[in-house]
Amino acid sequence: MDKSGQNKAPSRRGFMLGLMTVCTGILALLTPLMGSIAFVLSPVLRGRGKSKTGFVKVGVLASLPVEGLPRKFTVLADKEDAWNRYSNVPTGSVYLRRTRENKVIAFNIICPHAGCFVQVDALAKQFSCPCHNSQFKLDGSRANTDSPSPRDMDPLKVEIRNDEEIWVQYQRFKPGVAGRIPIG
Ligand code: FES
Repeated sequence: MDKSGQNKAPSRRGFMLGLMTVCTGILALLTPLMGSIAFVLSPVLRGRGKSKTGFVKVGVLASLPVEGLPRKFTVLADKEDAWNRYSNVPTGSVYLRRTRENKVIAFNIICPHAGCFVQVDALAKQFSCPCHNSQFKLDGSRANTDSPSPRDMDPLKVEIRNDEEIWVQYQRFKPGVAGRIPIG
């Protein structure tokens, strides 16, 4: 009790109550803010250590005859942008050719000249680009000496897994240049 005879305890209680109210308010403000920060950073954190050029299962050996013509396969892969993840999205196409019982070669179907889609010429038993007449042998090398393509078709790494699954390391390369420069 002070000189005026009033008790100081209520003002201390009031101070403590005020302090608790302020702390609770700050906590209430920080909680959604922390959630927002975590949401903003999550794509950055998710992307750490991920390989952009992983192998993708494209088909099975049984779908390719040995020494037959190349067959076109769509490459499906999981994709993610800054905020979303998508499964089995078409990301490109490849030609597969089974050269031996347990050996498959793969090429990107994109023409190295200017990016058209190369086709299979079944009669000539070779690849042919309809845009500017680049022709390629079945091993991907240029077939015509006046080919406008500055390089052979782009080969891709292949793995046979579990004795039947064909996995391809899909990659695109810059068109119009002699060197193989990965893009995307
Ligand atoms: S894009 Fe294929 S020959 Fe030009």
